[in-house]
Amino acid sequence: MKQMLARVRELCDAAGFDPSVIADVHVDAALQRRRRARGAATLADYATHFLDDAAEHAEILEELLVRESWFFRDLAPFDLLMTLAPRRWSALSEPVRALSAPCASGEEPYSIAIALAAAGVGLAQIQVDAVDLSRRGLADGQAGRYAARAVAQMPAALRAEWLPVDGDGHFTVKAELRRLVRFHQTNLLALPPTIGATRYDLIFCRNALIYLRPAARQQVLNQLEALLAPAGLLVVGHAETALLADRGLNPIGPPGAFSFQRAPAAASPPRPAPPARRASSVPPAPRRPVSRPAPVIDVAPQAADDPLASAHQLADQGDYARAATLLEAVLARHFDNIDAQHLLGLIRAAEGAVTEAQRCFQRALYLNPTHQPSLEHLALLAARHGDSAAARQLRRRAARKDAEG
Ligand SMILES: C[S@@+](CC[C@H](N)C(=O)[O-])C[C@H]1O[C@@H](n2cnc3c(N)ncnc32)[C@H](O)[C@@H]1O
Repeated sequence: MKQMLARVRELCDAAGFDPSVIADVHVDAALQRRRRARGAATLADYATHFLDDAAEHAEILEELLVRESWFFRDLAPFDLLMTLAPRRWSALSEPVRALSAPCASGEEPYSIAIALAAAGVGLAQIQVDAVDLSRRGLADGQAGRYAARAVAQMPAALRAEWLPVDGDGHFTVKAELRRLVRFHQTNLLALPPTIGATRYDLIFCRNALIYLRPAARQQVLNQLEALLAPAGLLVVGHAETALLADRGLNPIGPPGAFSFQRAPAAASPPRPAPPARRASSVPPAPRRPVSRPAPVIDVAPQAADDPLASAHQLADQGDYARAATLLEAVLARHFDNIDAQHLLGLIRAAEGAVTEAQRCFQRALYLNPTHQPSLEHLALLAARHGDSAAARQLRRRAARKDAEG
């Protein structure tokens, strides 16, 4: 048994797993499942198959991988793609290249393709590479057929458009979308040269780094950063933003987008952000330095006397409730504070309170009919709900304003 445990630990080590994340009890349970699958009466019998069998090693690892994923996970990163795409990518003749690493069973790479398509990027222009260690995950991704829980968080209009439901209550990705995603079985620690022959405009690396030991995390991030196009976006999981500190990347997007890009000089398009409006940090590139999500939610002293700055800070830390309370207090006194209206809209959208979010953006537009961030977010919400005519009209208004500005 000791020998087997040691062998499994070696396999985990090669995958970069943090040993403290995978307890002996998990390893033991995985070995028992494989023992039963092989029809061995005891672990000692199973060891005779297992210890020297590479295929069995892969099966053991499969048992230990956490493949949990779902379409439009976290929502805000996909909102950000839909907001950025019309300006950044839909007019380009070159493809938009995205990498989902790791991709689990395909939910994330398909979500990226759907978000880009919904924002008006032509299907012929979308290329997504999807990598994972798990053969089972990749096989499921290639099949593109999902249970209802995998699509429960995605905007209903997009689900109806791209994943028709069958008689068994399963949802299958349309063939024209499946063709846009190429799946590759690989270890994140050693990406093959086929990945990143051309650099990526978008790299999603979410909810895997947390399972890796510190040196392996940095190794993965080094590779991914080298694969990122100069104005590319790197998206991580909510618990992983602190790992990007000291990498010269700046956050971009609304609360909860967990998205980063290089310094503004390399960003595209080179439009200055309006002063003192962090709510408009969606496009273009923000100028804020990387901010670690603080483990405590107390407001920093310099923000304490500025309720709007405090609200931004709380929203960045994911404390939407306290941020919203502050903003409502600001608006009770100054209904005409556009930045407060807009930030409250972003927070409501991140919470999934769509009608309330729309109201906030509309109030901001009532105060300033050309308020671009509010136009863009209303367009996004309309697109999410399948109202593409309204989305187009709002985007045209935003683009006109952009051209004038
Ligand atoms: C929790 S899922 C995250 C999937 C997706 N990015 C998301 O956020 O929904 C973690 C995935 O990481 C994969 N994984 C873990 N270690 C890996 C490694 N060293 N190389 C490639 N994939 C790995 C697992 O197989 C699993 O599918």
